[in-house]
Amino acid sequence: MAPAEPNALPFRPKGEIPHFEEEREGWKGYIEWEKYPEKKKQVEKILAGYDFPDPPEFQLVPLPDTNPILTGERFKQYHQATGLGHLVDISWEYVLKEKSPDMIHVLQFPYNGEPPRDRLVETEITNNKDHFVRNHGGIPEIDPDKFFLEITGLVNNPKKLTLADLQNESLFPRQTNVVSLQCSGTRRIEQIHEYPGDGDELINAPWGEGAIGTARWTGVSLKKVIKHCGGLKDGAQHVELLGADTYFKKGKVYNYSVSVPWRKVKVHEVLLAWEMNGEPLPKIHGFPLRAVVFGYIGARSAKWLYEIRGIRDPTEAPVQRKEYLYYTPQVGKQNNLFSNGFSIQDMPVSSAIMSPREKDVIVHEGKIKMRGWAYSGGGHWPIRVEVSGDGGSIWYEVPWDKLTTKYYYAWRLWEMELPVDAEGWLELCVRTWDNALNTQPTFVRSAWNWDLHVTSSCHRIKVYSVNKTRPATAARLKLIEEKGASLLPITKPLEIDVESDEHFEAVMKEMGGREPLE
Ligand code: MTE
Repeated sequence: MAPAEPNALPFRPKGEIPHFEEEREGWKGYIEWEKYPEKKKQVEKILAGYDFPDPPEFQLVPLPDTNPILTGERFKQYHQATGLGHLVDISWEYVLKEKSPDMIHVLQFPYNGEPPRDRLVETEITNNKDHFVRNHGGIPEIDPDKFFLEITGLVNNPKKLTLADLQNESLFPRQTNVVSLQCSGTRRIEQIHEYPGDGDELINAPWGEGAIGTARWTGVSLKKVIKHCGGLKDGAQHVELLGADTYFKKGKVYNYSVSVPWRKVKVHEVLLAWEMNGEPLPKIHGFPLRAVVFGYIGARSAKWLYEIRGIRDPTEAPVQRKEYLYYTPQVGKQNNLFSNGFSIQDMPVSSAIMSPREKDVIVHEGKIKMRGWAYSGGGHWPIRVEVSGDGGSIWYEVPWDKLTTKYYYAWRLWEMELPVDAEGWLELCVRTWDNALNTQPTFVRSAWNWDLHVTSSCHRIKVYSVNKTRPATAARLKLIEEKGASLLPITKPLEIDVESDEHFEAVMKEMGGREPLE
């Protein structure tokens, strides 16, 4: 088990821990809250009686150098206080079972994790084990034979559909699409480093460049399912998607809920998926059924789907109304309202350098190899990727044949041999243009926002360049090798004299010394 956050207080129950019955047989970890207002009130009362540990300060001080980076003690305790503490352990077991052993655990519970940077761009389709995970609560364990999906609300013929119904191709044609999911928190660490923002009790996880992944999803178009239910009733403009996990927000409890506009469903951009890259969905990614909403913020792709409702207006649920909002830079703790941030929907064009990495020392022969991803939501696709070795004055286009396949709803990976003559610290950066000629803001500051979402500015990293084609550098590298010394780390002084006295004196003589003669 991971170390707890420094100074985390142990959980001390206050009174008896309640037991909330699971809603359905074969649906472990699914407690229905939305249909039982009295149960929600009971939880509110319980939570109000506790003094939970504060989320750790991790923006104004360095992040812990641990994996998990943050452990989420406050959230673990919400679960313990409400009799759901077992979900903390179950969820961690699924992380160990279903994800790669070297995942970066940004937050242990609720689990948020991303893969090591260079591996993410090795394949156009992300290996399931390496696909990032963003959870808001525990992982429900649903028996597929006991699973059914309810279609309710403003639909003409409400229905219950089993997994077998959904998979019955005489009822519903199957649809497979390559789609990237991107969490709006991707690259948040850059905002945190430069201009911290909202801490959020559900910790605004310090994501790097890996909260994005691409899979081949198979399922049925939500439009077909709604049609099978006789279509939406007049006035219904949105479709609410409910997930079986438990979501805590400011002393209250909910099931995970988001919505999508009907106009998006109508064009088959909302898939109810049971397969991820030809395999059943992993538990951690929503088994047995999840939504995949193309080109939108990942938050709308609800996992562990159990109910879909036709509704008039966008959902009132807090995930969408109170979170995942984008504010202008003059809005913050002093003046933010839910109504003065806009709801993040289509993801903007963005990109990242995945290799080399920040503070790498690169010994090269006039070219530095760069690799990364480029993505644009809303059905757009990256059409040109440009990289710079000088912080963004001179840009070089990545050749078109160094970009992977074009998809309407997925990223393109790119690689480039960047010409570099200069030595010392350089700022490498990348920017992408999409087919609608959108490109990225120049600096983190240009798009800083209070909730630290959607870090879409040009991605910049600092690397130390050592150009072997320069004779002096080649000679020094040779000397280092001969003496059995090391260039790395560059911060460790060389123990050899870098110049003989004879050489120094000869140069001085030629130069006329270091100081003027008169
Ligand atoms: N669905 C449920 N039920 N619960 C969640 O916590 N997280 C959302 C979305 N769907 C979430 C959810 C968010 S914020 C993102 S970015 C995506 O799932 C991440 O999907 P993944 O974990 O499969 O990568």
